[in-house]
Amino acid sequence: MSVNEKSSAGNGENSAGNDAAQANAQWGGRFAGGPSAIMQEINASIGFDKALWRQDIAGSLAHAAMLARTGIISAQDEAEIRQGLTEIGQEIEAGRFVFSTALEDIHMNIEARLSERIGEAGKRLHTARSRNDQVATDFRLWVRDAIDGLDAQVAALMRALCRRAQEHAADPMPGFTHLQTAQPVTFGHHLMAYVEMLGRDRGRLADTRRRLNECPLGSAALAGTSFPIDRRMTAATLGFDRPTANSLDAVSDRDFALEYLSALSIMGMHLSRLSEEIVIWCSAPFAFVRLSDAFTTGSSIMPQKRNPDAAELVRAKIGRVSGALVGLLTVMKGLPLAYAKDMQEDKEPVFAATDAAALSLAACDGMVRDLAANTDRMRAYAGSGYSTATDLADWLVRVLKLPFRTAHHVTGRLVGLAESRGVDLAQLSLEDMQAEEPGITQDIFSVLTVEASIASRISEGGTAPGNVRAQATRWLTELEGAV
Ligand code: ARG
Repeated sequence: MSVNEKSSAGNGENSAGNDAAQANAQWGGRFAGGPSAIMQEINASIGFDKALWRQDIAGSLAHAAMLARTGIISAQDEAEIRQGLTEIGQEIEAGRFVFSTALEDIHMNIEARLSERIGEAGKRLHTARSRNDQVATDFRLWVRDAIDGLDAQVAALMRALCRRAQEHAADPMPGFTHLQTAQPVTFGHHLMAYVEMLGRDRGRLADTRRRLNECPLGSAALAGTSFPIDRRMTAATLGFDRPTANSLDAVSDRDFALEYLSALSIMGMHLSRLSEEIVIWCSAPFAFVRLSDAFTTGSSIMPQKRNPDAAELVRAKIGRVSGALVGLLTVMKGLPLAYAKDMQEDKEPVFAATDAAALSLAACDGMVRDLAANTDRMRAYAGSGYSTATDLADWLVRVLKLPFRTAHHVTGRLVGLAESRGVDLAQLSLEDMQAEEPGITQDIFSVLTVEASIASRISEGGTAPGNVRAQATRWLTELEGAV
C-alpha cells in the first residue's frame, strides 16, 4: 500500500562520525574545527532524507556510468563504484548501514561509505556533480515513484466506486443542495460523481509527472560544469525525458514538489468530502449506509456506538496534505536563486503528505467496498421533502406550455398547500391541483413518484439508471490495466 518504502535502514549511529569536534571530511580542507552540536542538529537531514537512498544510489550509478563513458573517470573506477554502491544498497536494505548525523544527509553518508569501502575511486564519484543537482534529481525520482504508486491507488478506488455504482445504479436516494432535500438521484449516480473527481485527480498527477520528468543532473552546484559530461545519457538512464534546460532553475526550483502537493491537496479534498458524506450517511438520523466492524470503532462508555473513525480520520489527515502545500510554498516564496539550505525542508512535508494520501486512499477504498447501503431507507427519504416538485413544474411546462417561471410559482403554491396539510404532493387531490391551475389532469400524478423522476433524468450526465450504468461501464473499461 505504501507508495514509497520509507527506509528499511537501521537507525544505528556512527559515534566516530558524530564527533562534533571533527571537521566534515567532505570539506575538511577549508575547515579546521567542527560544527557545534546545535549546528549539527539543525543542519542534518539524514533523519528523514535517508528515504531517498534508492534514488541516490540510482543517480550515482547513472552519473558514474556517464563519467566513464565520457572518459572523465576510468572504466576500472566505474566498475569499483558500481560494485561499492550495489553493496551499500544491500547494507541499507539489510539495516546494516550506519547512518551518521555528522555526515548530514543521505548523499554524503553514501559517498563517505563508498570512499571508505573502495578508496580512491569512490572519491572520484563527485566529479562534475554537486549535492545541489544530486538532491534535485533524487527528489524528482522519489516524487515520480510516489506519483506512480498513488496513481494505482486512485485507479483502484475508482474501480471500487464503479462496481458499487453498478450495484446501486437504480437505487434512489435524496439528492441534496445546501444539505436540504433537492431532487431524487440514484446512489450509483452519487458514487459516480466521485469517480469523475478522481479521474481529474489522476490527470493532475499525470500532468505533474510529465512536467517533472526532466533531469537536473549535470547542473552541478548552479552554473553547470566544465567537464565534458553527457547529460542526455544520465537523463535517459534514469528514465527522464530530457535534461533540464537551465542549471540555475534546475537546482533551485521545487515547483514539481509543489505541483505534486497541489494535486494531492485537491485529491485529498475529494477524499475528505467523500469521508464527510460517509460520516453523515452513517449517523442514526440518516442511516443510509452501515460500515462493518472492519471500518468502525466502538465507544469505551456507550455500548451502542459504532463510530466511523476511518472516515473521520481521512477527513482529518487530509489537513496534513494541504498543510504541506502551504508549508512548502512558504519555505520557497522568499528564496533568491539558486540553492538555499531552506530547500532541505522540502522533503518532510512531501513525505508526510504522501503517507497521509496513501493511507487515506486505502481507507476510502476499504470503506467503499465495505459499506452496506440501506436502500429502503434511502428510497423512503428520496421522496420526502417534496423532492419531485421540479417534476411537477416541468409537467406544467411540457404539457400545458406554461412558462417555467409561472410553473414554478404554481408548484410553489401547491407545495405550500401540501405542507399546510402535512401531506406529500401526490396526496393532494386533482381538485386541489386544479384550484391552482385548471389545466392540470390526472396525468400529473405519473411524474410525482421517485422512480418516474429518476427515470426521466436522461439528459447526458443525468441520474437515470441507464446513464449511471453506462458511465460505470465506460470508466471500468478505461480503468482496465490501470491497477
Ligand atoms: N541535504 C541537502 C538538501 O536536502 C542537500 C543539498 C546541500 N547543498 C548545499 N549546497 N549545502 O537540500
